[in-house]
Amino acid sequence: MTKKFSVPRGTSDILPEDISLWQEIEAISRNLLDIYNYKEIRTPIFEEIGLFKRSLGQTSDIVNKQLLQLASEKEEGFVLRPEGTASVVRSYIENGLDRKDNLSKLFYFGQMFRGERPQKGRLRQFNQVGVEAIGPNTCSPYLDAEVISLSVTLLEAFGVKDYELKINTLGTLEDKENFSKMLKNGLKDKISNLCDDCRDRFNRNVFRILDCKSSRCQEVVADLKEDNSYLSEESLQYYNKVKEALDILGVKYKECSNLVRGLDYYTHVVFEISSSSLGSQNALGAGGRYNSLVSQLGGSAVDAVGFALGIERILLAIEGKKVSNIKLLDCYVIALDESLFQKAFEILKTLRESGISADISYKATSLKNQMRYANKSCARKTIILGQDELEKGLITLKDMETGEQLQCSFEEIVNKIKE
Ligand code: HAM
Repeated sequence: MTKKFSVPRGTSDILPEDISLWQEIEAISRNLLDIYNYKEIRTPIFEEIGLFKRSLGQTSDIVNKQLLQLASEKEEGFVLRPEGTASVVRSYIENGLDRKDNLSKLFYFGQMFRGERPQKGRLRQFNQVGVEAIGPNTCSPYLDAEVISLSVTLLEAFGVKDYELKINTLGTLEDKENFSKMLKNGLKDKISNLCDDCRDRFNRNVFRILDCKSSRCQEVVADLKEDNSYLSEESLQYYNKVKEALDILGVKYKECSNLVRGLDYYTHVVFEISSSSLGSQNALGAGGRYNSLVSQLGGSAVDAVGFALGIERILLAIEGKKVSNIKLLDCYVIALDESLFQKAFEILKTLRESGISADISYKATSLKNQMRYANKSCARKTIILGQDELEKGLITLKDMETGEQLQCSFEEIVNKIKE
């Protein structure tokens, strides 16, 4: 028997019947992002592996376990992008965007790839809509608040009702170092209580222990006496201003001292939006400030903040919301026998050139059959072309909703359909 192929695990087809929801998500995003003055950027879906190692960090789960490398590439090579931030920063530096604008407000849509064990809401290929605001001397609590507020405004515009926004601050790179020391101090006597992964994380990336899903690690973490003492006075003040600006915008948030995010590039404010309706993979989106990444990747000292929302998870969160606008076809052209196709084809071309969406069955089967195709295409009108009509220079135009029929000349067709 001939082998049938299946879609790879952790990926999915988006069929024509589901596409309107995706298009709606994209249209809502474009509209809002335009209102906030963000411009679209498109980068390749694969990049040098070193880009992600250097930006996300050697010890991050993504770099350690989830990068999908292109098999044909020898040596270090290329990987499918696991996220958008590093690529956007690479492009920002490479194209000298800092010389063009003081603040580059960029957004992207696109597929991301992570070699994870697939489960509900955790895919190997998934889509993000993301925002990155990058520019020299642009570190402002108002920009942070705007970016955070934009992420929840987008979610609400998509119809997500049940969500929680958590925020925290990591401070500067120096503060982060202090935070790491403080955590190690608090955890050093409890290493044996941690799961295998977290024992390893203790030395490699102690922050990751804070968001480990294992219940034994969560118990250890719950006992930790954390406070803000790792933050400098300046960082603390900055964080307070972000919260004030969020209050001005009316954004509701919960402070969460365990929120550290799994990627190395973050400094200062970090945030995550989750939905309790989603089970274990409950993050709808996340982001934060990353003031050192541009210089770490060879660019100038430039500030940056951004977020990304996972579209598949958003669709799970709004499950049940049906998009009713099935796309209608303006006109279906029926030729009653093969010899009439040349004229039918001409009519089809004229319709399309006049901006009328139109289709044809490409084979002169019975009228009944072709009417069925017209119905399946959700055609508003149908043109029927028979031998007698062709000789008189006429066609029959049927309104598919009312069933009314009329005859008109070839020249009148476009106007009659547009009526
Ligand atoms: P992230 O938290 O890794 O952040 O991903 C953002 C969102 O992408 C997640 O909250 C989730 O909704 C979705 N997502 C992640 N992995 C998967 C997966 N395997 N399957 C389905 N959905 C997934 C970033 O990617 C950062 N680049 C965000 C950012 C932008 N920070 C600053 N700027």
